[in-house]
Amino acid sequence: MMMMISPSLLAADFTKLDRELDRITRGGAEWLHLDVMDGVFVPNISFGLPVIQSLRKISRLTFDVHLMIQEPLLYVDAFADAGADYLTFHLESSSDPEKMIDAIHARGMKAGLSIKPNTPAEAVFPYLDKLDLILVMSVEPGFGGQKFMPACLDKIRILHEKAPEIPISVDGGINAETGRLCREAGADVLVAGSYVFGAKDVVAAIDSLMA
Ligand code: DX5
Ligand code: ZN
Repeated sequence: MMMMISPSLLAADFTKLDRELDRITRGGAEWLHLDVMDGVFVPNISFGLPVIQSLRKISRLTFDVHLMIQEPLLYVDAFADAGADYLTFHLESSSDPEKMIDAIHARGMKAGLSIKPNTPAEAVFPYLDKLDLILVMSVEPGFGGQKFMPACLDKIRILHEKAPEIPISVDGGINAETGRLCREAGADVLVAGSYVFGAKDVVAAIDSLMA
């Protein structure tokens, strides 16, 4: 898999979402990272189904939905209907990971599994044969604009070595410098919120992540 950049909508200007999507699409992004938070799994609430459903009508980007919710199994159908391409949930949530992955596949989506900074890479091993994406958090989930935690790099290395065929995504505090470290460790997808949407020159920001 080639390097993918997945700009995180959380850092976009919510009063101008159509223009924001235009800006990153022209800037060369092929994926859009959509952070859904329920105020239970993480101490923050972001946006949900109606926003994703609306954006689906105006965008052909690959929708990379990151669920930070306590009971993701209850919402698999709803996110499929809303237009998610990848549906990523947290190993630390309450839903059974096997059931979750099967339910995601049954609705024709790609299944991603995410781990928080305190969860070891090995915790993902039992699910590797079923996964389409692994999302390694490089900050505590819940907020954009936090500082990159370098401890995620070892986890990326371990997972890349164990399952080189599964794309590894990394999320939180990504910029040109931290992005390069993640790429060198074996990451395939870089999620970047503030670095991309906060940039005056989005083309240059995305290029710097690919370079
Ligand atoms: C945090 C979210 C991230 C966030 C990243 O819980 O999962 O996707 O938007 O934002 P930056 O790139 O600003 O750290
Ligand atoms: Zn995210």
